[in-house]
Amino acid sequence: MEEMGSWKRTSYCTEVGKTDVGKTVCLMGWVNSYRDHGGVIFIDLRDRAGLVQVVFNPTFAASAHDKANLLRNEWVIAVSGEVRPRPADMVNPKLRTGAIEVWVKEMRILNRSAATPFAIEDEAKINEELRLKYRYLDLRRPEMQKKIICRHRVVKLIRDHFDTNGFYEIETPFLAKSTPEGARDYLIPSRISPGKFYALPQSPQLFKQILMVAGFDRYFQVVRCMRDEDLRADRQPEFTQLDVEMSFPQPEDIYELIEGVLARIWKEILGIEIPRPFPKLSWDEAMSKYGCDKPDTRYELFLQDLSDIFPNSEYRFFKQALADGGIIKGMNAPGCAEWSRKDTDDLTYALKAYGAKGLTAMRLQDSGLAGPVVKYLSADEQNKMLERLSAKKGDLILIMGDKFAVTNEAMNQLRQMIARKMNIIPEHKYNFLWVVDFPLFDWSENEKRWKSTHHPFTMPRAEDLDKLEFDPGKIKALAYDIVLNGVEIGGGSIRIHRPDIQERVFHALGISDEEAKIKFGFLLDAFKYGAPPHGGIALGIDRLMQIVVGGTSIRDVIPFPKTQAGADLMVDAPSEVSEDQLKELHLEVTKEDLT
Ligand code: AMO
Repeated sequence: MEEMGSWKRTSYCTEVGKTDVGKTVCLMGWVNSYRDHGGVIFIDLRDRAGLVQVVFNPTFAASAHDKANLLRNEWVIAVSGEVRPRPADMVNPKLRTGAIEVWVKEMRILNRSAATPFAIEDEAKINEELRLKYRYLDLRRPEMQKKIICRHRVVKLIRDHFDTNGFYEIETPFLAKSTPEGARDYLIPSRISPGKFYALPQSPQLFKQILMVAGFDRYFQVVRCMRDEDLRADRQPEFTQLDVEMSFPQPEDIYELIEGVLARIWKEILGIEIPRPFPKLSWDEAMSKYGCDKPDTRYELFLQDLSDIFPNSEYRFFKQALADGGIIKGMNAPGCAEWSRKDTDDLTYALKAYGAKGLTAMRLQDSGLAGPVVKYLSADEQNKMLERLSAKKGDLILIMGDKFAVTNEAMNQLRQMIARKMNIIPEHKYNFLWVVDFPLFDWSENEKRWKSTHHPFTMPRAEDLDKLEFDPGKIKALAYDIVLNGVEIGGGSIRIHRPDIQERVFHALGISDEEAKIKFGFLLDAFKYGAPPHGGIALGIDRLMQIVVGGTSIRDVIPFPKTQAGADLMVDAPSEVSEDQLKELHLEVTKEDLT
């Protein structure tokens, strides 16, 4: 191996072009591929910019050629050579540098590489565990480099946009106190205060509100948040938010700001003009038409509430659903009557995972409505149902009845499954949507109490304030989510800034004065000293980036992500610590924990 010595790189590989023909360049990077053609060695040299072909010709530079014989993939080299045009029949139009090659005069071997566990190329089908264990090699693949560099560009654009709009980026602590975003906290034991713990922030929510009390007026931060929750494809235990807060805002100010930054990302990064303002949909309408609060509006399959059609139904599942205070919902899959019994059985089976007890399928055929349940439906019920679902011959009708939440969730999933099966989800279409007028509270059947839909600092609509003590379920919040193609990419609200309203909300949530004081005393204290009306939002940058780069998982846009089991396979975290460390932290691991 050799040293770089005084060699100085003149450019990245792809910056060498036709205008450099005749010049001497110095390039450094990795051996991407190696071909020996009758004694002349061709190497594709790779750096973060891309590839260039370098040529070792024994008659041009014998000693460099001799050394090139030793090279293997992923060795690190420096070459100094002359840029030459490629012979016409050797031009590679697929490569940015495909019109030229570099004839090496001198080469230095800067480092060797062991044989890599997978090839450093984009097409490789690599097992994800292996990719995560050898993340540095995975990240070396051009596809991954592109995604991570794109993330840098987007974050840079975000920072510029917020700076231009008068926002300051202000850091908030990681060693903090529990914030109620609804997930479990990651706790850090204190060495100095035995038995006490910091909590890693689930978001900077309370600090950003405090910054408004402090008078900064406009805050943003690109910030890591940690939540110990069950992981799903679009969730990571640590993820990045674009966190924003403004003083004296109307919700429209926040919509405009966020639409502005998203439109710029789409225009400057993807070259796509996004129509503005983004459409708005109330939570009630979203639940009614789509069965969920983050609908994918790229395709038009709508749910219909059929409860009023079947109040006296003979069909026991419909009867039961309504008797239990539930709802009956249906949807029409146009032209899908020909789907087989197995197809609809598969859908029914898949819905079981979402709590559905069953799904009723009917087909509108030439001979009329067909299906095992039809005989239980009166002619009047059938007609009303077909009309409501705008059913035509050849359509497949799917109906389900259960509790409000179960029916909506299952029908929402069904809508997505049908769209995938019908193959009607357009690619490269970006449907942004604001979902507004969320309920302030959700009833938790498990805990038998009201819980905040967003978080307890969300302002109720002024006209609903008097319902706080009497009808909490009917209160709408000044809260909004931003949804893109069925993914919740952000959410926020106007906050409570008055201690009296905050107190009433805590009471509605069953949080006693004492508990509120222990958990959020500092915020309540701060509110006593002239808190301005304020509000904000946070966008999930990882989810946003996944859509920008067209990735299949948020792990693709996070340099060092965790697995579904919360593990970092490269550094092997989480891992055990020494007895001494535990002792210092006043902790003990019990034997039961280890089994
Ligand atoms: P919320 O909890 O909705 O709001 O989070 C904001 C956005 O962050 C993203 N997100 C996640 N991304 C990846 N992995 C996760 N585990 C994860 N959890 C959330 C989502 C989500 O929309 N403090 C409030 C914001 C506010 O009110 O201003 C908050 O954190 O895209």
